Amino acid sequence: MKRFFITTPIYYVNAKPHLGHAYTTIVADALARFHALLGERVYFLTGTDEHGDKIAEAAKAAGQTPKEYADTISGLFGALWPKLGITPDRFIRTTDADHRRAVQHALQIVHDKGDIYFGEYGGHYCKGCERFLTEKELVDGLCPDHKVKPEYIAEKNYFFRMSKYQGALLEHIKANPDFIRPRQYRNEVVSLLESGALEDLCISRPKSRLTWGIELPFDDGFVTYVWFDALINYLTAIGWPDDPGYAAWWEAAEHLVAKDILKPHAIFWPTMLMAMGLPLYKRLNVHGYWLVRDTKMSKSLGNVVEPLDMAARAGLSGMRYFLLREMVFGSDASFSEEAFAGRFNADLANDLGNLANRSLAMTAKYFASVVPEAGEAEEGETALATLAAESVDNFVQLFGAAQFSRALEALWELVRGLNKYIDAQAPWALAKEGRTARLGTVMASVLGGLRLAAVCLLPVVPEAAARLLAQLGADPGAVRLTGPDRVFAPLAAGTVVAATSNLFPRLEPLAKEAAPAAAKPEKPAKAKAKKEAPAKPGPAPEVEFEDFAKLDLRVGVVRSAEPVPGADRLYAVTVDIGEEAPRPVVAGLAEYFKPEELVGRQVVLVANLKPRALRGAVSHGMILAVRHAGGMALLGPSAVVAPGDRVS
Ligand code: ME8
Ligand code: MG
Repeated sequence: MKRFFITTPIYYVNAKPHLGHAYTTIVADALARFHALLGERVYFLTGTDEHGDKIAEAAKAAGQTPKEYADTISGLFGALWPKLGITPDRFIRTTDADHRRAVQHALQIVHDKGDIYFGEYGGHYCKGCERFLTEKELVDGLCPDHKVKPEYIAEKNYFFRMSKYQGALLEHIKANPDFIRPRQYRNEVVSLLESGALEDLCISRPKSRLTWGIELPFDDGFVTYVWFDALINYLTAIGWPDDPGYAAWWEAAEHLVAKDILKPHAIFWPTMLMAMGLPLYKRLNVHGYWLVRDTKMSKSLGNVVEPLDMAARAGLSGMRYFLLREMVFGSDASFSEEAFAGRFNADLANDLGNLANRSLAMTAKYFASVVPEAGEAEEGETALATLAAESVDNFVQLFGAAQFSRALEALWELVRGLNKYIDAQAPWALAKEGRTARLGTVMASVLGGLRLAAVCLLPVVPEAAARLLAQLGADPGAVRLTGPDRVFAPLAAGTVVAATSNLFPRLEPLAKEAAPAAAKPEKPAKAKAKKEAPAKPGPAPEVEFEDFAKLDLRVGVVRSAEPVPGADRLYAVTVDIGEEAPRPVVAGLAEYFKPEELVGRQVVLVANLKPRALRGAVSHGMILAVRHAGGMALLGPSAVVAPGDRVS
């Protein structure tokens, strides 16, 4: 049986997971499911990287021991994956006992071979990257990823003779053009190896400076450098060195990483393997960054998207589809609310969702949801079969080559083709004309095409595709992307299908265009322009705490919201802050929210603002809101609290 071993990076535990980590792990999960659907034996590995300077510092800042701190954050990663519907075969931690043994074993082998020596070195160390950067890699003296000036560190340490393997690695990459993909990253590594002498790799830290690491087996005055520790996890997880069964998995090993850690994976790791006398992994798959307004999404830059927020909004399937469809694997992609809602609505709500809705509704109407017998294929069905075969072949080939966005484009040829087929065959006209046999052929063909699309979609949107398959009378656990399941055919006569589908209800945009903020009087043009202008005002002058304490901020629940006659932007709102009667407040929210979106919502009210008249209504307070690029967001507590609870 063919095997597939897929790994994600093991993530640093210096901050909680964000969309970037979720992306890599979702891609790994999608590949794992894809290969399982092809009938292969699959092993899926992820985990956390817990030693080193960066973690020791973060723990100190949090007032915890490194282990306590690592336990907490590793727990967040470990708990996130199941919430996203992802169940790796192993969640490895570099603090696991079997890993520590494997690292020490690896070091001993390389040391015994004479490829580790003691020496002195000074260089620019970036803690964000946990490695020395070369002069060439610095941009204006800063690390290009973390935007910080690396620290100059010079000390006595142990070194791995990485330079010794430069030629052998270059040869391997040239002999195996698919070893690193996509091609641009392979080329980058080749030119790096061709452009000059590789330096040796510093693989230890003196305990006088850092104790949070795995002790070197041949000198207890030192701990292992994090990368020499972390990379070994890929072997630990499959039982190396004790379990000989590891070899069958190792042959099938594919790593998945973003370009930030290309060098450790494409250069440190293969040369380490050579020194250990082991075969190299099969392939390195490298993707680009998720950006937010042209900047890498990163915990150190603080511009992250929360995976669970995204999943709560669009469902796990909506989120996975967007991530896989929107990023061209290898290139950077931008995350924005507009792109997200746009993609979801166009591809899932419209193309696929409507296809399922209308097919099932028509089958219910014309055949009481029992699939009719398909008659002889006519031109339309023959063309559909050809389109389906091409679309699915392309999908499978491209998905296997990690070109997910192109694979989905190819599959959408089938989805759109099915919608066009329905439009061209016009089942409603066939029904009207009483051509029941022909109507049966059309409906069975559409449902068969939909089933085929759903099978392909299982790795991409597992829960939605499983629901769709169940709606089509199939057992999602039993289908394969091989044999009859991956060939177009009308759905079998007699199959009972669901009457409705409703997989992907449209996403409403979060908020409309940016415009003025809440509770602002309509003022003459000049004053208004001034108030509305800068998106990011500079810092305001400092105030004393007593000044801040004068504000009476209360959490309240909106009880009603109505337009103010003659003022397009304003609502007359009442807010319950636990007083005898809800407070009447006038708020400039009418452009962003429907009244029903406000009623029942918890908001923060400035409760002791002097009442003021706005367009004939009197406002007894102000609702706090944030104007942002996507529109307006209301402030509220992160958990439900009692109306009138004080904000401080
Ligand atoms: O580098 N876009 O861990 P790390 C896309 N511990 N992917 C992103 C991303 C973004 N904006 N931000 C993070 C480490 N990632 C080491 C790895 S492996 C032996 C040791 C993802 O926590 C992406 O997979 O910094 C990237 O390579 C990884 O998180 C870096 O995670
Ligand atoms: Mg990083």
